[in-house]
Amino acid sequence: MNKAISRINGADAGAGDLMSRRTFAQILFTGVGLCYAGAIGYPIYRYLASPIERAKETTAVSEVTLPDAAKLEPGAAMMFKFGTKPALLIHHQDGTWSAMEAVCTHLACTVQYQAEENRIYCACHGGVYDVKTGAAIAGPPPKGLKAFNVKVQDGAVIVSKA
Ligand code: FES
Repeated sequence: MNKAISRINGADAGAGDLMSRRTFAQILFTGVGLCYAGAIGYPIYRYLASPIERAKETTAVSEVTLPDAAKLEPGAAMMFKFGTKPALLIHHQDGTWSAMEAVCTHLACTVQYQAEENRIYCACHGGVYDVKTGAAIAGPPPKGLKAFNVKVQDGAVIVSKA
């Protein structure tokens, strides 16, 4: 009991105390090392894992409801998210609708609807797509945009995978 009290007071610094200090230092440095490894490793893990997670999220979504999109004037378009990817909804002058993924099939830039030119345009390298089908018309895109089904129901527009 007296020995324990004297250790607490620092009067007895024997071999047992040195071992415990060494053990304490090892635990401390191991803990700090693990914190550093986590701080560096977690962002790297998230960076590497995110394309896989995004692909899972994208495939998980099969339908998107756009509540007020039916109010879109003929000749107008709007962007929306289909899963994690940008998409484009177009209300044509003839009253029909088109929806497609707004990701260029060349190098994945986001495309835009140009009503005055009656085309979907990719500003990155001048890719041009058809407004109704999303087919590649001009420029470097190797294939058309991924098209979706469109249904207007109760004032909402429902876009689903084709
Ligand atoms: S990324 Fe669209 S044309 Fe190159």
